[in-house]
Amino acid sequence: MAAKILVVDDDPNVQRLLQYSLRQEGYEVVIAGDGAEGFRLWGAEAPDLILLDVMLPKLDGYQVATKIRSEEGSASHVPIIMLTAEREVEQKVRGLRAGADDYLIKPFHPAELLARIKSLLARFAPRDALVGRPPLGRLFAFYGAKGGVGTTTIAINAAIALHRELGRKVCLVDGNLQFGDHRVFLDLGLDRKSIVDVVTAPSIDVDLIRQVLVKHDSGVDLLLAPPSPETAELVTADHMPQVLEQLTSLYDYVLVDIDKRLDEINLRILDAADTVFVVMTADLSCLKNVRLVLETIGHLGYEQSKVRLVLNRSNAFTGINVKNAEGALKRSIDHQVVNEYRGAISALNSGAPFMFTKADSLLGRSLLDFARQVDKMTPAAPALAPATR
Ligand SMILES: Nc1ncnc2c1ncn2[C@@H]1O[C@H](COP(=O)(O)OP(=O)(O)O)[C@@H](O)[C@H]1O
Ligand SMILES: [Mg+2]
Repeated sequence: MAAKILVVDDDPNVQRLLQYSLRQEGYEVVIAGDGAEGFRLWGAEAPDLILLDVMLPKLDGYQVATKIRSEEGSASHVPIIMLTAEREVEQKVRGLRAGADDYLIKPFHPAELLARIKSLLARFAPRDALVGRPPLGRLFAFYGAKGGVGTTTIAINAAIALHRELGRKVCLVDGNLQFGDHRVFLDLGLDRKSIVDVVTAPSIDVDLIRQVLVKHDSGVDLLLAPPSPETAELVTADHMPQVLEQLTSLYDYVLVDIDKRLDEINLRILDAADTVFVVMTADLSCLKNVRLVLETIGHLGYEQSKVRLVLNRSNAFTGINVKNAEGALKRSIDHQVVNEYRGAISALNSGAPFMFTKADSLLGRSLLDFARQVDKMTPAAPALAPATR
């Protein structure tokens, strides 16, 4: 597998030059145009090495290096080469103190850069160890209180926001085994691998899971539902916890989209989840179902705080407002997503989620707010988390 190099530089000429010469050498290249983006992409892309300019908008190179070093913990170390325009010794010292492993003074010869990259990559191999900070490993279930309330819409777009806007490693699982919609929402054919390829293998391990996951253009990894309802039967309730455990060892967030059935499979997913987002709209049948779900969850012995209520299409006129809904449920609504029918339906019909193509729309901003709230709920990554759990 080609090593992945993250280039953080605001100068388009440098970006182009580095991209060209690194690709020629067979490296995979990811580009960030400012320090904040560089830091985000380090989290999201887990590069094998970073080329970091010093003078950058938003966060300078020293700040980026310092932040990375403080977050990655002692279990891993991404090699950083600082690219500096300054010759002063003092600057070099500052760079090295901030956590760089090497530095180069601009302008430099590509051959020299490549030699330094090779030597650092060799020094910091083996690659199979975790690169970047350890994954947070949080599992979220998105549970629709009834069909058509927008559970899939919210799960997919929240996944994209968590990855692209908040720099998290994210996996999205279509837990609607019989009638999963993710292939439609994301314009993927029936030939793509699915959870069936996981459960029919002799044993479930991380390598197998990695092979079956489908990479969406947004950068979110997908575990798709079976291509047909008949094959869904191959997935049993016992498989679920195993699959989810492997996934949480690899990702910051694993989001599972499930429907309202409280069957054995869904119960196992709810059980394994850190948080259950119950998606609802403000109508009577939904309120009835949510009440039943809250009761069931009480019977199962889960803490009420494990469940969070998400009111979708919150500003749509239904005759029942947020206050009424809260009164009927005797608890507060935790999150709201606005109503924008055209944005939602045209994204669905084109197979391009709005969070990917129209993040700045009303709906995109509403989902981003939601993703931010969700991301804040997660306790900060421990400095020295185990690599797997
Ligand atoms: N916030 C929203 N505003 C307007 N329409 C929405 C919104 N969320 C979802 N929809 C629409 O509702 C319909 C059902 O959405 P979907 O995500 O498939 O629901 P579910 O997974 O709960 O069955 C789709 O046509 C979708 O475009
Ligand atoms: Mg759905």
